[in-house]
Amino acid sequence: MKKIIITILLLVVVIPLIAIEVSSPNKQLKVEFSIDKGRPAYQLFYKNQTVIKTSHLGLQLINWPDLMEDFVISGSEITSFDETWKPVWGEEEIIRNNYNELVVDLLQTTTNRTIKLRFRIYDEGVGFRYELPRQDKLDNVWVKQEQTEFAMTGNHIAYWIPGDYDTSEYEYNISRLSEIRQLMPKAITPNACQSPFSPTGVQTSLLMKTDGGLYVNIHEAALVDYSAMHLELNDTTFMLTSRLTPDSEGRMARLHCPAVTPWRTIIVSDKATEILASRLVLNLNEPCKIEDTSWIHPTKFVGVWWEMMSGAATWNYADYQHIDIGKTDYKTLKPTGRHAANNENVKRYIDFAAEHGFDEVLVEGWNEGWEDSWQKMHNYSFTKSYPDFDVDLLQDYAKNKGVKLMMHHETSASVQNYERQLDDAYRFAHSKGYDIVKSGYVGKIFPQGGHHFDQWMVNHYLYAVERAAEYHLMIDAHEAVRPTGLCRTYPNLICNESARGQEFHASESYSPQHVAVLPFTRLTGGPMDYTPGLLETDLSKVNPDNQNRIGSTICNQLALYIIMYSPLQMAADVPESYERYADAFQFIKDVPVDWSKSVYIEAEPGQYITIARKAKDSEKWFVGSISADKSRRSVLPLDFLTPKKKYVATIYCDAPDADIKTNQARYVIKNQKVTSKSVLKMNTVEGGGYAISIVEDR
Ligand code: NOJ
Ligand code: CA
Repeated sequence: MKKIIITILLLVVVIPLIAIEVSSPNKQLKVEFSIDKGRPAYQLFYKNQTVIKTSHLGLQLINWPDLMEDFVISGSEITSFDETWKPVWGEEEIIRNNYNELVVDLLQTTTNRTIKLRFRIYDEGVGFRYELPRQDKLDNVWVKQEQTEFAMTGNHIAYWIPGDYDTSEYEYNISRLSEIRQLMPKAITPNACQSPFSPTGVQTSLLMKTDGGLYVNIHEAALVDYSAMHLELNDTTFMLTSRLTPDSEGRMARLHCPAVTPWRTIIVSDKATEILASRLVLNLNEPCKIEDTSWIHPTKFVGVWWEMMSGAATWNYADYQHIDIGKTDYKTLKPTGRHAANNENVKRYIDFAAEHGFDEVLVEGWNEGWEDSWQKMHNYSFTKSYPDFDVDLLQDYAKNKGVKLMMHHETSASVQNYERQLDDAYRFAHSKGYDIVKSGYVGKIFPQGGHHFDQWMVNHYLYAVERAAEYHLMIDAHEAVRPTGLCRTYPNLICNESARGQEFHASESYSPQHVAVLPFTRLTGGPMDYTPGLLETDLSKVNPDNQNRIGSTICNQLALYIIMYSPLQMAADVPESYERYADAFQFIKDVPVDWSKSVYIEAEPGQYITIARKAKDSEKWFVGSISADKSRRSVLPLDFLTPKKKYVATIYCDAPDADIKTNQARYVIKNQKVTSKSVLKMNTVEGGGYAISIVEDR
């Protein structure tokens, strides 16, 4: 790893100091910090255009004087930093972390307290945070509200989901900022647990596009021991202000000084592809804290899952509603007859995984407690399996076939029950040979009464990841707080859901634009378990009682393996569907889940994305392209290939008569010899796409 740290101490001697300017390493981006009538403020400029107008910074505290006004600058320091680091897994092998840093010391003249504001200015954006040194009048404090402003320059187009303290599982809306209020009631679609907080409140990561063609993304990095930030919009001034997630008592966060807040991040570019290429959020996180990472590995898996999601089978073994965990003898209960996690069915999936080269088989509904799991103190056991699921037998069976089983812990948000069992559960999983735990937090937090995104829960999710590392377990948490780049520090946080994933296609169809927004928003913080690869778009073929249709073509599903980057990728459909579309399935079998390089070829949020990625330690390239809102022609120069080498491209593309509503399963597969000079032209339909694998021609 190359590491260069240059420290230039610039003592700023301007008396009285009112404003300080710092630019990014390439001078494209500039932050101007100032004191505006005693209030800390900043502005952001990109290529001399204003991105963020004068915006104030401050914290309101409970029972202590606020940290909002009466400030003067008492010191400042500007330094530079440049390093490269190697992620354990990722979209590329080497990441550059290069920024200029400004630390401003602020003195509150009325209380004599000091705080620091730290800005890191990258070529593609800025991160800043509050730092509270410990002092007499700043010790252990409750934050009443954080008042960080982001003053937008106009009525931008926003790619947004409703602000909510409990769920991010909403479909993305694309509208002007001024239209959010009117669209909000329809945007708040039902969920097992939801707490929208305002008619103009939205979640981060929020993407906006200005009329001048700038893309602006606001999110946060390194959310540790604090609550998640939302944004409240003033739809007259277009000012966005931070809104933290309250705990059960309405408090936003407890800070034990010395303390730092998470980074508030703004990524800016005039090219949509550069938003996808940004590593700013990862870079603002601490380096990896796990010394030996040899047990952490990207994984492609199938699962006993879609048959339950689609309603063909059940997670629960019985229908009995009075389960007493540890006492109820399941052998005496009448089985539903549709319990999918049974030995025979799981063996079938293991055979399928082994035959087609998958690493693992997820099995949901293997453990006691699914019958009446809601709002209960003792709702699941994470060590006792149902009578028809024999852990040892199945582990042996899988091992002999070179496949692993993936553990599943649905908590139904009964978090105390989970934490009490956590070590036992992880010890059990590790001792039986599991190395990944998919966890879930469906429903209301019980019994704490708080929210999925409050400080207590934010701490819980990280505690689980840290404990899991002790047992060499990777974590894929669903319904948890949306990621903020913590996978750099804890690469065993292999994935998260934390957005509307494809599971919603089991019961309703959503617009193909959603998936063309996610890489610009949700994925800024880390990979998503979107569960791609639903090749059977007619759900009645999986469950005759389910008349739903998936709103995308088969080629769109294939392209998602490239577009929705994740080191943990599921082939989400049932084996029968893959047997039905065996030729298209070949792409899913071939596509890797770890990359040495990614090239963001063309993109427009909500409309289309084309990405090429090079497999780690190989000369193989894979391309994915989705078209969301309309049919289009994609022109793809293969200039990313090594010059003078010869390759064969296998192209999976929408057929001319493919249609997201009536003809999703229409595609054409063809082979073509290519070099770095070739230019391919593909036509795709609304909700469609193409996928290409490119291997050396030997
Ligand atoms: C919600 C998760 O997102 C889904 O993947 C899982 O199957 C169910 N919870 C049941 O745990
Ligand atoms: Ca979910």
